[in-house]
Amino acid sequence: MIGTKQVIFSGFLVIFCLYNVGTEAQLQVGFYRFSCPSAERIVKEEVLNAFIQNNGVAAGLVRMHFHDCFVRGCDGSVLIDTVNPSSPAEKDSPPNNPSLRGFEVIDNAKARLEAVCARKVSCADILAFAARDSVEITRGLGYEVPAGRKDGRVSLSSEALANLPPPTSNVNQLTQAFANKGLTQEEMVTLSGSHTIGRSHCASFSNRLYNFNSTTSQDPTLDPNYANQLKAACPQGSTNPNLVVPMDPPSPATSDVSYYRGVLSNRGLFTSDQTLLTNQQTLSQVIQNSQNLFGWHIKFSNAMVKMGKIGVLTGNNTGEIRVNCREINS
Ligand code: HEM
Repeated sequence: MIGTKQVIFSGFLVIFCLYNVGTEAQLQVGFYRFSCPSAERIVKEEVLNAFIQNNGVAAGLVRMHFHDCFVRGCDGSVLIDTVNPSSPAEKDSPPNNPSLRGFEVIDNAKARLEAVCARKVSCADILAFAARDSVEITRGLGYEVPAGRKDGRVSLSSEALANLPPPTSNVNQLTQAFANKGLTQEEMVTLSGSHTIGRSHCASFSNRLYNFNSTTSQDPTLDPNYANQLKAACPQGSTNPNLVVPMDPPSPATSDVSYYRGVLSNRGLFTSDQTLLTNQQTLSQVIQNSQNLFGWHIKFSNAMVKMGKIGVLTGNNTGEIRVNCREINS
């Protein structure tokens, strides 16, 4: 016979377990307050040091966090080096190589953190902090980063290709790619505003300049004057990987709304930027964002926090704290 006390005890046990499952799955602001109090400060210092050398690194880190989160969740898998060339890692996939930059900032922060609090701060969290600091340093709005991510142990180039939308995407494809990660169409438009900072390699948009389709050589939705400037920077047939152009020429290192203004004047660099004008809802969000810097900043910070929660590994039973962000622990 099961006694009343046992029933009550089992009830408590179930509630306790459910509570633990609930809290374990949550990221927390100030996660390293006790285990590594200097964690966020050290990452910020490394982002600042790198930014002073090259302000483009901020754009690189924001994009790197996006590319991490969309592939296997925000688990630092984008940071892992290829071990076996027959199975390349995410960072060696076409969406990431050669364009992704800022890996050394994460390495430097990690080296300092291992020296002061070994095996406490995950690479995935370092990247999430660094992306936030990059938004802030380019005059975006700072925000609190919920942390406690663990690092994953798998990184596959094929998964980057399958999950990251290409710059040739139309609005429906973009909406679907973001919906697959639990993000709304509006969040897609908000986050695309990140193209207000940084640069692009010619290969990402040259299809719009030359041999566009069977009837026209140039994308008719692209402002012809802008197209001429882009052609001068990216000669036809050039395979030089060092050729890059700013994505938001008026202010390439400032998180402002001139990206949206550019899109409205047919100066969005990618098909995936320009296509935001082809749908009633996304068009109206582009217009709103172009007129409301503060409103876009708030939406952007919130969307970054939400993106940073995609598929995270948390708690004790999953993932690891990598010692070197480029290698899974042995
Ligand atoms: C909506 C779908 C998106 C597409 C198709 C896309 C595509 C691209 C491409 C092709 C580049 C240029 C890469 C190169 O050739 O150098 C780029 C750059 C960039 N993207 Fe996106 N992107 C998208 C969304 C996002 C999101 C959500 C973020 C961040 C939250 C982001 C942040 C950036 C940044 C900051 C850069 C500049 C990187 C640098 O200067 O190193 N993008 N994107």
